[in-house]
Amino acid sequence: MAEILKTEAAMERAVALLEAGEVVAIPTETVYGLAGDATNGEAVARIFEAKGRPRLNPLIAHVSGMVMASGIARLDPLSEKLAQAFWPGPLTLVLPLRQDASIHPLVTAGLDTVAVRMPQGFGSALIARLGRPLAAPSANSSGRITATTAEAVEADLGSRIPLIVDGGPTTVGLESTIVKVEDGKVRLLRPGGVAAEVIEAAAGQTVVRGAGGGERVEAPGMLASHYAPKASVRVGAASVLPGEALLAFGQVRAENADRAVAMLNLSPSGNLREAAANLFSHMQALDRSGAPTIAVESIPATGLGEAINDRLRRAAAPRDQ
Ligand code: TXA
Ligand code: MG
Repeated sequence: MAEILKTEAAMERAVALLEAGEVVAIPTETVYGLAGDATNGEAVARIFEAKGRPRLNPLIAHVSGMVMASGIARLDPLSEKLAQAFWPGPLTLVLPLRQDASIHPLVTAGLDTVAVRMPQGFGSALIARLGRPLAAPSANSSGRITATTAEAVEADLGSRIPLIVDGGPTTVGLESTIVKVEDGKVRLLRPGGVAAEVIEAAAGQTVVRGAGGGERVEAPGMLASHYAPKASVRVGAASVLPGEALLAFGQVRAENADRAVAMLNLSPSGNLREAAANLFSHMQALDRSGAPTIAVESIPATGLGEAINDRLRRAAAPRDQ
Protein backbone atom coordinates (compact mmCIF):
# COMPACT_ATOMS: atom_id res chain seq x y z
CA MET A 1 0.00 0.00 0.00
CA ALA A 2 1.18 3.47 -0.80
CA GLU A 3 2.33 5.75 1.99
CA ILE A 4 0.27 8.97 2.03
CA LEU A 5 1.93 12.16 3.25
CA LYS A 6 0.63 15.73 3.31
CA THR A 7 2.59 18.17 1.16
CA GLU A 8 4.16 19.84 4.23
CA ALA A 9 5.73 16.53 5.30
CA ALA A 10 6.39 14.88 1.94
CA MET A 11 9.29 16.74 0.31
CA GLU A 12 12.29 14.73 1.56
CA ARG A 13 10.64 11.37 1.02
CA ALA A 14 9.44 12.32 -2.48
CA VAL A 15 12.90 13.55 -3.50
CA ALA A 16 14.54 10.38 -2.17
CA LEU A 17 12.12 8.10 -4.04
CA LEU A 18 12.44 10.06 -7.29
CA GLU A 19 16.23 10.03 -7.02
CA ALA A 20 16.00 6.25 -6.63
CA GLY A 21 14.04 6.02 -9.89
CA GLU A 22 10.68 5.40 -8.22
CA VAL A 23 7.35 7.00 -9.14
CA VAL A 24 5.38 9.27 -6.81
CA ALA A 25 1.83 10.59 -7.14
CA ILE A 26 1.83 14.35 -6.64
CA PRO A 27 -0.83 17.05 -6.55
CA THR A 28 -0.83 19.75 -9.21
CA GLU A 29 -3.41 22.48 -9.69
CA THR A 30 -5.03 20.52 -12.56
CA VAL A 31 -5.13 16.85 -11.57
CA TYR A 32 -2.88 14.50 -9.61
CA GLY A 33 0.17 13.41 -11.62
CA LEU A 34 2.12 10.17 -11.52
CA ALA A 35 5.64 11.58 -11.52
CA GLY A 36 9.01 10.10 -12.36
CA ASP A 37 12.46 11.54 -13.14
CA ALA A 38 12.18 12.54 -16.82
CA THR A 39 15.89 11.87 -17.35
CA ASN A 40 15.68 8.26 -16.12
CA GLY A 41 14.28 5.78 -18.65
CA GLU A 42 13.45 3.08 -16.12
CA ALA A 43 11.62 5.57 -13.93
CA VAL A 44 9.56 6.63 -16.95
CA ALA A 45 8.92 2.98 -17.84
CA ARG A 46 7.64 2.52 -14.27
CA ILE A 47 5.06 5.24 -14.91
CA PHE A 48 3.64 3.32 -17.88
CA GLU A 49 3.80 0.11 -15.89
CA ALA A 50 1.89 1.54 -12.92
CA LYS A 51 -0.77 3.09 -15.18
CA GLY A 52 -1.12 -0.12 -17.16
CA ARG A 53 -1.06 2.08 -20.26
CA PRO A 54 -1.52 0.03 -23.40
CA ARG A 55 0.33 2.72 -25.37
CA LEU A 56 3.66 4.47 -25.01
CA ASN A 57 2.25 7.94 -25.67
CA PRO A 58 4.48 10.95 -25.04
CA LEU A 59 4.30 12.53 -21.57
CA ILE A 60 4.48 16.09 -20.34
CA ALA A 61 7.85 17.20 -18.92
CA HIS A 62 7.11 19.32 -15.86
CA VAL A 63 9.63 22.04 -15.04
CA SER A 64 10.21 24.45 -12.16
CA GLY A 65 10.73 27.53 -14.30
CA MET A 66 11.90 29.15 -17.53
CA VAL A 67 15.55 28.24 -17.07
CA MET A 68 14.77 24.53 -16.83
CA ALA A 69 12.33 24.81 -19.75
CA SER A 70 14.99 26.47 -21.91
CA GLY A 71 17.39 23.70 -21.03
CA ILE A 72 15.19 21.08 -22.64
CA ALA A 73 13.29 22.96 -25.38
CA ARG A 74 13.59 25.91 -27.72
CA LEU A 75 11.03 28.62 -27.00
CA ASP A 76 10.03 30.88 -29.88
CA PRO A 77 8.95 34.41 -28.82
CA LEU A 78 5.22 33.59 -28.84
CA SER A 79 5.66 30.42 -26.77
CA GLU A 80 7.80 32.41 -24.36
CA LYS A 81 5.08 35.04 -24.09
CA LEU A 82 2.50 32.34 -23.28
CA ALA A 83 4.80 30.76 -20.72
CA GLN A 84 5.32 34.14 -19.05
CA ALA A 85 1.56 34.71 -19.02
CA PHE A 86 0.42 31.32 -17.72
CA TRP A 87 3.24 29.64 -15.80
CA PRO A 88 3.02 28.33 -13.23
CA GLY A 89 -0.38 27.13 -14.38
CA PRO A 90 -2.50 24.81 -16.50
CA LEU A 91 -0.93 25.51 -19.90
CA THR A 92 1.30 22.97 -21.67
CA LEU A 93 3.45 24.06 -24.60
CA VAL A 94 4.63 21.62 -27.26
CA LEU A 95 8.10 22.81 -28.24
CA PRO A 96 11.08 21.66 -30.32
CA LEU A 97 13.25 19.41 -28.18
CA ARG A 98 16.82 20.60 -27.75
CA GLN A 99 19.37 18.17 -29.15
CA ASP A 100 21.34 18.22 -25.92
CA ALA A 101 18.30 17.87 -23.66
CA SER A 102 18.67 15.28 -20.92
CA ILE A 103 15.01 14.22 -21.34
CA HIS A 104 14.80 10.45 -21.86
CA PRO A 105 13.39 9.44 -25.29
CA LEU A 106 10.62 7.41 -23.60
CA VAL A 107 9.15 10.73 -22.37
CA THR A 108 8.79 12.08 -25.91
CA ALA A 109 8.14 8.66 -27.49
CA GLY A 110 11.06 9.40 -29.78
CA LEU A 111 9.52 12.65 -31.13
CA ASP A 112 11.62 15.74 -31.76
CA THR A 113 9.16 17.85 -29.79
CA VAL A 114 8.46 17.88 -26.06
CA ALA A 115 5.37 18.95 -24.12
CA VAL A 116 6.43 21.25 -21.26
CA ARG A 117 4.56 22.82 -18.38
CA MET A 118 5.30 24.42 -15.03
CA PRO A 119 2.78 23.34 -12.39
CA GLN A 120 1.76 25.41 -9.39
CA GLY A 121 2.62 24.69 -5.78
CA PHE A 122 4.15 21.48 -4.48
CA GLY A 123 5.02 20.15 -7.95
CA SER A 124 7.23 23.10 -8.83
CA ALA A 125 8.89 23.10 -5.43
CA LEU A 126 9.63 19.39 -5.79
CA ILE A 127 11.09 19.79 -9.28
CA ALA A 128 13.26 22.66 -8.09
CA ARG A 129 14.53 20.55 -5.18
CA LEU A 130 15.22 17.61 -7.48
CA GLY A 131 16.84 19.87 -10.06
CA ARG A 132 15.44 17.78 -12.92
CA PRO A 133 12.18 17.75 -14.88
CA LEU A 134 9.45 15.30 -13.92
CA ALA A 135 7.49 13.30 -16.46
CA ALA A 136 3.92 13.03 -15.21
CA PRO A 137 0.75 11.83 -16.83
CA SER A 138 -2.49 12.00 -14.89
CA ALA A 139 -2.37 9.64 -11.89
CA ASN A 140 -5.05 7.17 -12.95
CA SER A 141 -4.75 3.73 -14.43
CA SER A 142 -5.50 3.43 -18.09
CA GLY A 143 -9.20 3.78 -18.86
CA ARG A 144 -10.05 5.03 -15.34
CA ILE A 145 -11.21 8.49 -14.45
CA THR A 146 -8.63 11.21 -13.76
CA ALA A 147 -7.88 11.68 -10.05
CA THR A 148 -8.35 15.04 -8.38
CA THR A 149 -7.91 13.87 -4.78
CA ALA A 150 -5.29 11.77 -3.01
CA GLU A 151 -8.07 9.34 -1.99
CA ALA A 152 -8.97 8.73 -5.63
CA VAL A 153 -5.31 8.06 -6.46
CA GLU A 154 -5.07 5.68 -3.52
CA ALA A 155 -8.16 3.74 -4.57
CA ASP A 156 -6.86 3.35 -8.12
CA LEU A 157 -3.05 3.08 -7.89
CA GLY A 158 -2.44 2.64 -4.15
CA SER A 159 -1.21 -0.93 -4.43
CA ARG A 160 1.26 -0.11 -7.23
CA ILE A 161 3.16 2.97 -6.06
CA PRO A 162 5.19 3.74 -2.94
CA LEU A 163 4.01 7.28 -2.14
CA ILE A 164 1.04 9.59 -2.66
CA VAL A 165 1.53 13.22 -1.75
CA ASP A 166 -1.74 14.63 -0.47
CA GLY A 167 -2.30 18.28 -1.36
CA GLY A 168 -6.07 18.15 -0.97
CA PRO A 169 -8.49 18.42 -3.88
CA THR A 170 -6.96 20.03 -6.96
CA THR A 171 -8.20 23.54 -7.72
CA VAL A 172 -8.63 23.34 -11.51
CA GLY A 173 -9.91 19.76 -11.66
CA LEU A 174 -9.25 19.44 -15.38
CA GLU A 175 -6.05 18.63 -17.27
CA SER A 176 -3.90 21.40 -18.71
CA THR A 177 -4.63 22.99 -22.06
CA ILE A 178 -2.06 21.90 -24.65
CA VAL A 179 -1.00 24.27 -27.43
CA LYS A 180 1.72 24.33 -30.04
CA VAL A 181 3.03 27.38 -31.86
CA GLU A 182 3.44 26.65 -35.56
CA ASP A 183 4.44 29.31 -38.10
CA GLY A 184 3.59 32.02 -35.59
CA LYS A 185 0.10 30.62 -34.98
CA VAL A 186 -1.16 29.03 -31.76
CA ARG A 187 -2.76 25.62 -32.32
CA LEU A 188 -4.96 24.02 -29.70
CA LEU A 189 -4.03 20.34 -29.29
CA ARG A 190 -6.10 19.64 -26.17
CA PRO A 191 -8.68 21.85 -24.48
CA GLY A 192 -8.13 22.07 -20.72
CA GLY A 193 -7.72 24.24 -17.65
CA VAL A 194 -7.07 27.52 -19.49
CA ALA A 195 -9.86 28.52 -21.86
CA ALA A 196 -8.86 29.14 -25.47
CA GLU A 197 -10.31 32.66 -25.24
CA VAL A 198 -7.98 33.49 -22.37
CA ILE A 199 -5.02 32.25 -24.42
CA GLU A 200 -6.22 34.34 -27.36
CA ALA A 201 -6.27 37.45 -25.19
CA ALA A 202 -2.70 36.83 -24.04
CA ALA A 203 -1.42 35.88 -27.49
CA GLY A 204 -3.22 38.72 -29.25
CA GLN A 205 -4.45 36.34 -31.93
CA THR A 206 -7.00 33.65 -32.68
CA VAL A 207 -6.20 30.14 -31.53
CA VAL A 208 -6.43 27.55 -34.32
CA ARG A 209 -8.66 24.68 -33.24
CA GLY A 210 -7.74 21.23 -34.53
CA ALA A 211 -10.08 19.38 -36.89
CA GLY A 212 -12.00 17.69 -34.09
CA GLY A 213 -10.70 20.06 -31.43
CA GLY A 214 -9.95 17.30 -28.98
CA GLU A 215 -7.29 15.01 -27.65
CA ARG A 216 -8.61 12.09 -29.70
CA VAL A 217 -7.74 13.77 -32.99
CA GLU A 218 -4.53 15.41 -31.92
CA ALA A 219 -2.96 12.80 -29.66
CA PRO A 220 0.35 12.28 -31.43
CA GLY A 221 0.25 8.56 -30.88
CA MET A 222 -2.44 8.51 -33.54
CA LEU A 223 -0.66 10.71 -36.04
CA ALA A 224 1.38 9.52 -38.99
CA SER A 225 4.10 11.97 -38.01
CA HIS A 226 4.61 10.07 -34.78
CA TYR A 227 8.09 8.63 -34.67
CA ALA A 228 8.50 5.87 -37.20
CA PRO A 229 11.88 4.65 -38.40
CA LYS A 230 12.91 5.06 -42.05
CA ALA A 231 13.69 1.37 -42.16
CA SER A 232 10.82 -1.04 -42.43
CA VAL A 233 10.15 -3.01 -39.28
CA ARG A 234 9.51 -6.75 -39.14
CA VAL A 235 8.07 -7.87 -35.80
CA GLY A 236 8.12 -11.32 -34.25
CA ALA A 237 11.24 -12.28 -36.21
CA ALA A 238 12.58 -15.71 -35.26
CA SER A 239 15.60 -15.47 -37.55
CA VAL A 240 17.42 -12.60 -39.18
CA LEU A 241 17.41 -12.35 -42.98
CA PRO A 242 20.48 -11.18 -44.91
CA GLY A 243 20.92 -7.40 -44.73
CA GLU A 244 18.62 -6.92 -41.73
CA ALA A 245 19.43 -5.15 -38.48
CA LEU A 246 18.28 -6.92 -35.32
CA LEU A 247 16.44 -5.47 -32.36
CA ALA A 248 16.86 -8.32 -29.90
CA PHE A 249 15.17 -9.18 -26.61
CA GLY A 250 16.66 -11.62 -24.14
CA GLN A 251 19.30 -14.13 -25.08
CA VAL A 252 20.27 -13.89 -28.75
CA ARG A 253 20.86 -16.90 -30.97
CA ALA A 254 24.43 -16.93 -32.29
CA GLU A 255 23.37 -17.26 -35.92
CA ASN A 256 21.12 -14.21 -35.61
CA ALA A 257 23.90 -12.19 -34.04
CA ASP A 258 26.23 -13.29 -36.85
CA ARG A 259 23.85 -12.45 -39.66
CA ALA A 260 22.57 -9.06 -38.44
CA VAL A 261 24.29 -6.04 -40.02
CA ALA A 262 23.69 -4.18 -36.76
CA MET A 263 22.29 -5.39 -33.46
CA LEU A 264 21.02 -3.90 -30.25
CA ASN A 265 19.34 -5.70 -27.38
CA LEU A 266 16.32 -4.16 -25.63
CA SER A 267 17.11 -6.18 -22.54
CA PRO A 268 19.62 -9.04 -22.50
CA SER A 269 18.03 -10.31 -19.27
CA GLY A 270 14.51 -10.13 -20.69
CA ASN A 271 13.35 -7.30 -18.38
CA LEU A 272 10.36 -5.45 -19.89
CA ARG A 273 10.97 -2.24 -17.95
CA GLU A 274 14.51 -2.06 -19.31
CA ALA A 275 13.17 -2.89 -22.77
CA ALA A 276 10.63 -0.04 -22.66
CA ALA A 277 13.33 2.38 -21.56
CA ASN A 278 15.55 1.33 -24.49
CA LEU A 279 12.88 1.04 -27.17
CA PHE A 280 13.01 4.45 -28.86
CA SER A 281 16.75 5.05 -28.58
CA HIS A 282 17.55 1.57 -29.92
CA MET A 283 15.12 1.91 -32.83
CA GLN A 284 16.65 5.27 -33.69
CA ALA A 285 20.19 3.90 -33.50
CA LEU A 286 19.39 0.89 -35.70
CA ASP A 287 17.64 3.21 -38.15
CA ARG A 288 20.83 5.27 -38.37
CA SER A 289 22.74 2.10 -39.27
CA GLY A 290 21.08 2.39 -42.69
CA ALA A 291 19.77 -1.19 -42.78
CA PRO A 292 16.61 -1.30 -44.92
CA THR A 293 14.82 -3.54 -42.43
CA ILE A 294 14.88 -3.90 -38.67
CA ALA A 295 13.91 -7.39 -37.55
CA VAL A 296 12.45 -7.37 -34.03
CA GLU A 297 12.39 -10.47 -31.87
CA SER A 298 9.16 -11.44 -30.10
CA ILE A 299 8.41 -9.51 -26.94
CA PRO A 300 6.11 -11.13 -24.36
CA ALA A 301 2.63 -9.55 -24.39
CA THR A 302 2.44 -9.29 -20.59
CA GLY A 303 2.78 -6.13 -18.46
CA LEU A 304 4.70 -3.39 -20.26
CA GLY A 305 5.09 -5.79 -23.19
CA GLU A 306 1.60 -4.84 -24.34
CA ALA A 307 2.58 -1.20 -24.82
CA ILE A 308 5.94 -2.12 -26.37
CA ASN A 309 4.21 -4.43 -28.86
CA ASP A 310 1.65 -1.75 -29.68
CA ARG A 311 4.46 0.68 -30.50
CA LEU A 312 6.30 -1.91 -32.59
CA ARG A 313 3.18 -2.91 -34.51
CA ARG A 314 2.54 0.70 -35.42
CA ALA A 315 6.18 1.13 -36.50
CA ALA A 316 5.75 -1.96 -38.67
CA ALA A 317 2.44 -0.90 -40.22
CA PRO A 318 2.44 0.39 -43.81
CA ARG A 319 2.73 4.18 -43.80
CA ASP A 320 1.86 7.07 -46.08
CA GLN A 321 4.82 9.06 -47.24
O1 TXA B 1 -2.76 18.75 -16.36
C1 TXA B 1 -2.03 17.96 -16.95
O2 TXA B 1 -1.57 18.21 -18.07
C2 TXA B 1 -1.69 16.64 -16.24
C3 TXA B 1 -0.91 17.01 -14.98
C4 TXA B 1 -0.43 15.80 -14.23
O3 TXA B 1 0.17 17.85 -15.30
N1 TXA B 1 -0.95 15.76 -17.08
C5 TXA B 1 -1.50 15.13 -18.15
O4 TXA B 1 -0.64 14.26 -18.82
O5 TXA B 1 -2.64 15.29 -18.52
P1 TXA B 1 -1.14 13.11 -19.80
O6 TXA B 1 0.07 12.26 -20.07
O7 TXA B 1 -2.34 12.44 -19.28
O8 TXA B 1 -1.46 13.90 -21.12
C6 TXA B 1 -0.41 14.42 -21.90
C7 TXA B 1 -0.91 14.77 -23.27
C8 TXA B 1 -1.22 13.55 -24.09
O9 TXA B 1 -2.46 13.73 -24.76
C9 TXA B 1 -0.09 13.53 -25.10
O10 TXA B 1 -0.48 12.96 -26.31
C10 TXA B 1 0.27 14.99 -25.23
O11 TXA B 1 0.13 15.48 -23.94
N2 TXA B 1 1.65 15.21 -25.67
C11 TXA B 1 2.77 14.90 -25.00
N3 TXA B 1 3.87 15.19 -25.73
C12 TXA B 1 3.42 15.70 -26.90
C13 TXA B 1 4.06 16.18 -28.08
N4 TXA B 1 5.38 16.20 -28.20
N5 TXA B 1 3.28 16.63 -29.08
C14 TXA B 1 1.92 16.65 -28.96
N6 TXA B 1 1.26 16.19 -27.86
C15 TXA B 1 2.00 15.72 -26.86
MG1 MG C 1 -4.40 11.48 -18.90
